[in-house]
Parts: sequence; C-alpha cells; structure tokens
Amino acid sequence: LPHVYATILSKEGIKMAVRKIVKYGTESLRQPSKEVHKVSQKVKNLVQDLIDTMYASNGVGLAAPQIGENVRIFVLDVSTNEEPLNPIVFINPKIIKKSGACISHEGCLSFPEAFTDVRRYANVMVKALDSNGRSFVLEAKEGTLLARCIQHEFDHLDGVLFIDHAINRFEAEEVLSKNNLPPLQVEKMVEEPELAKAVDELKEKEVNK
Ligand code: NI
Repeated sequence: LPHVYATILSKEGIKMAVRKIVKYGTESLRQPSKEVHKVSQKVKNLVQDLIDTMYASNGVGLAAPQIGENVRIFVLDVSTNEEPLNPIVFINPKIIKKSGACISHEGCLSFPEAFTDVRRYANVMVKALDSNGRSFVLEAKEGTLLARCIQHEFDHLDGVLFIDHAINRFEAEEVLSKNNLPPLQVEKMVEEPELAKAVDELKEKEVNK
C-alpha cells in the first residue's frame, strides 16, 4: 500500500510528504492508469505528495504510478536552479499534437543512475486539468526539456517507460544490467517507424557535420 515514506520540513518549515518511489520491475509502473473523475481534496493531496517527492528526489518530473498510484496525474518542473520553482500539474492529460523528432538523453527516478538516448517528438501540444480542475493547453517546441519531459511523464500513465524508446537496445541493456535493474522488455518497445526514420536522419546529419 502507498504510504508516506518520510515527513520532512522544507526550507519554509512546511511539512512535506515524501513518498517512496517504486523502481523498475514493480508492476504498477507497467499498469495503465485510470482517469481522475473529480479533482477532490484527496486528488489535491496526491498532487502535493507528487510535487514534494519530486523536489526531495531532485527530479524534473514525477508521475503518480511511480509512487504506486495508478491515476492519470503527473507533475514536472523544468525551471533552472537560478529560477523560482515552477511546478506544473497535469491531470487527465491528452497529447493533442506531436511533430518533429529529437534525440533525448533520459533517465527516470524509477531507474536510479540509468541513462540512455531515446527517440522523442520535438513538438507537443498537451491539454490537461490543473490542480484546481481548470482545463489548460500547453505547447512545447523544438525538443526543449519541457517537450521531452511531457512525453516521458505522459508515457508513465500508459505503463510505457523511457527505455521502451531506446535508440540503441544494446546500450540500454548494458546500462540496465550495470545498475542492477531488470532487463529490457523487448515486447514492450514502442514501434514508431516514422519517428525512428526522422531520428536516423538527425543522427546522420550529426555525423556529417
Ligand atoms: Ni520517469
């Protein structure tokens, strides 16, 4: 059962609920998450737990299945250290547009120390509810951290993990075993022929530079 892992005091002296992040190999990471029917107080508390846990873990994003809750919520904050905190909450997100391609070097709080290059769209438009239940649309372009992070966190809600998008399966396999994580699940790998082709072209351009 999900439980509060630790209660710590933030710099402002506010109680934070830091939850345990489940690791790759845990079933909840592969299960599809359920829609939120009402942004109730319980949902708001879960959102706050996600934000607190993300900051306590120095993460850029965190999705509810990563704390063992299979509901369609994720949070992210792509602000730099010099900028004020800027958490963005996505409830029942839908990616309504995606285009372009980019190579993204990614890790995940559920895969400690494991990083590999993955294929991502360069531009996405996402529609979601915020923590007050208000609908918003956000567009992220040009393969920015925000654009890539939205795709990574959104995937978690469908039980898809970043390694399923790995450009080099052998390298990903090596990184997983080096960090004592379970192997790739080849049958789960995402087949996106057009995106793969666009990424191959990007790589070729890099080589020819
Ligand atoms: Ni992740």
